[in-house]
Amino acid sequence: MSEQPLPLADEIRYTLDPVAWAQERVGMVLDPWQVDALTSERARLILLTGRQCGKSTVSSLAATHNAIYRPGSLSILISASERQAKIVHGMVRDYVNKLGIGPDMRENNKLSAEFPNGSKIVALPANEATVRGFPGVSLLVIDEAAKVDDSLYFAARPFLATTNGKLLVMSTAFGQSGFFYDEWTDGGPGWHRIKIKSCEVPRISEEFLANERASMGDAWYRQEYECEFMGVEAGLFTSEQINNIFSKSIKPLAISGW
Ligand SMILES: Nc1ncnc2c1ncn2[C@@H]1O[C@H](COP(=O)(O)OP(=O)(O)O)[C@@H](O)[C@H]1O
Ligand SMILES: [Mg+2]
Repeated sequence: MSEQPLPLADEIRYTLDPVAWAQERVGMVLDPWQVDALTSERARLILLTGRQCGKSTVSSLAATHNAIYRPGSLSILISASERQAKIVHGMVRDYVNKLGIGPDMRENNKLSAEFPNGSKIVALPANEATVRGFPGVSLLVIDEAAKVDDSLYFAARPFLATTNGKLLVMSTAFGQSGFFYDEWTDGGPGWHRIKIKSCEVPRISEEFLANERASMGDAWYRQEYECEFMGVEAGLFTSEQINNIFSKSIKPLAISGW
């Protein structure tokens, strides 16, 4: 059975205050940088963080809040791989269940959720995402963006054209090429930039990070946990290996109804 509706005063407060909503309704106390990402009024946000800092958590919360408090809205969550798209969508499913609206959902499958108010959240793996067919997107997230092809980025941005929607691009660093690196280093003042190293996140212990540094070596560690874009000269990969990541062709993926 679904939950009783909240009093109108609470609904208004949660519409305006996604941080209170996340804490009181979903039970998630956000880090200050996650608060910044969730509440910034800037239209373009770019987040550079170490692994496991909480990027996917904050983007899936943003999408769920958007879906609930903007009836009829469409949020698109693009991930670098199908596995990651499923993880991100699993987060949305968890929140929906915590909120008690699971039974009312019109659809809630592996990669797509349609809410009782007609809003939709679609999670897409970047290597399969269609580059057309999503007009009227109010939130577009590109997760692990350093591993997403430039062509997808430039094709997806117009999805926001008619809605004044929000673009949230986020990643751990990976090499010195691709749109994520370009926008972070040279993308101009239009972006709100948020940077957070893994050692700044209280959930990640010093001991864990010391073990990671010892086992992966300094250069990998700085890339994975300290937000450093390592060049080819660091010896982590060749420019050919990086190019191979970006050379997969983009296959259309039909999504009924959209
Ligand atoms: N504010 C938070 N409070 C508690 N746990 C969090 C918070 N943000 C993230 N986490 C947890 O930290 C882990 C990593 O989060 P995730 O969003 O997957 O990180 P990333 O996408 O940056 O690698 C997950 O287990 C997630 O539940
Ligand atoms: Mg993630």
